[in-house]
Amino acid sequence: MQEIKFYKGESIPMELHKVRVVQKLHLVPIKRRLEALYESGFNTFKLNTKDVFLDMLTDSGTNAMSDNQVSAMMNADDAYAGSQSFYRVQKAVQDVIGKEYYLPVHQGRAAENILANAYVRKGSVIPMNYHFTTAMAHITQYGGKIAELLYDEAYIINSNHPFKGNMNLEKLEEVIKVHGAKQIPFIRMEASTNLIGGQPFSIQNLRDVRSIADKYGIMLVLDASLLGENAYLVKQREEEFKENSLGEIIKTMTALADVVYFSARKLSSSRGGGIATDKLEIYRELEALVPLFEGFLTYGGMSVREMEAMAVGLYETLDETVISQSPSYIKYLVESLDKNNVPVIKPAGVLGAHVDAMQVCEHIPQNEYPAGSLAAALFLISGIRGMERGSISNQRDEYGNETYADMELLRLAIPRRVFTLSQIKYVEDRMSWLYENRKLIGGLKFVYEPPVLRFFMGELTPINDWPKKLMKKFKDDFGDSL
Ligand code: F0G
Repeated sequence: MQEIKFYKGESIPMELHKVRVVQKLHLVPIKRRLEALYESGFNTFKLNTKDVFLDMLTDSGTNAMSDNQVSAMMNADDAYAGSQSFYRVQKAVQDVIGKEYYLPVHQGRAAENILANAYVRKGSVIPMNYHFTTAMAHITQYGGKIAELLYDEAYIINSNHPFKGNMNLEKLEEVIKVHGAKQIPFIRMEASTNLIGGQPFSIQNLRDVRSIADKYGIMLVLDASLLGENAYLVKQREEEFKENSLGEIIKTMTALADVVYFSARKLSSSRGGGIATDKLEIYRELEALVPLFEGFLTYGGMSVREMEAMAVGLYETLDETVISQSPSYIKYLVESLDKNNVPVIKPAGVLGAHVDAMQVCEHIPQNEYPAGSLAAALFLISGIRGMERGSISNQRDEYGNETYADMELLRLAIPRRVFTLSQIKYVEDRMSWLYENRKLIGGLKFVYEPPVLRFFMGELTPINDWPKKLMKKFKDDFGDSL
């Protein structure tokens, strides 16, 4: 995309859209925010948005829709079977993702459930660049294990490696040799690898993974939930693709996979999801599972309105002014936090800015959840809701032992076209203040821990009265400011 230069040399992201529908926000006083934290078990997932100022929990289902998406929703075709809305989505999948067959599902994890049900058995091993919470939960539910195969660089916070999401090819061959191809139903590649800070892989790496998959006769599955942004970063960072359109880059990636699945909550700024393949035998293996778990094959658990928004949203992922918006804001936030010495994952990736809680809260041991503590502390002092992406988001091992995350991150998601620059400056300001007062943040402990995906509904409590002390310091510094 052509960069817009400022005469005074300032480097700021520029919106190539205008705001036409708005939602009022509420910044409630800090005293109320403290109450809200106790009510929600210090878990930002459990906050009511009436207490939230800037909702940076996720980009899932929160990207702003375009006027064309909203108007398409009005033109949906209600039918249990054979809805025209389905055929419009199917055509969009064929045009954008380049796969002939499309199975609709209600969201990304439903696709993961179907794939795990069809292919994962007790003893299966699924090599992947890195896990995503729901992908891993489904694989382990069906008795499989995952093997995470990133290069060491991926775990380095302060890096300038352009493709930290690349799969380690030597380790992949090793895993295949150790377990045998028969135990490996598929290899999973995740675009813009979420849990290591929204970091992309290169197309060269995907090609290399494909040739190893071919060598051993193993299926390659691409999680395309964040494919648009991965394609955008390929265009920026991989020499060979500098002159290609996003559409060409996307199709180059999807052509390398046997199965592509996605959360439409992310990919197409809508709701819903899907599985796409160009192999009839794979389609047949999965087909019966859609009516079993989701709904009939022409809606898959989605409403027809969602499908219409998804069809338009898929085409819009080919538009650089849409896809570049979130990464350019993220880059801005990452660079400003970095200037204020706040440790953040670099280089800036997609989805959000990722603050390194292991460094910010180096005084909090991992069994007291530094990332969860930082998420709670930031909400308290700002009303900004981020998401813990650390050990709380990890699952216990098969023996019930706690497993500590490789990284303790506070993710500050920047959904597409939702926030303004002054709001992002507020994030920078409050996060920088918190960094300077980081020693006041304390740890958390579980009081209620669900057995599966505990981070969603788990409840915690502070190990002492640190939230009160932090609130006092906030009042000392900000007076009666909200
Ligand atoms: N794969 C990736 C890479 C994801 O980021 C997500 C969701 C899923 C699969 C599951 O999709 O939510 O539609 O069922 N990520 C959200 C997030 C929840 O906040 O990062 P889903």
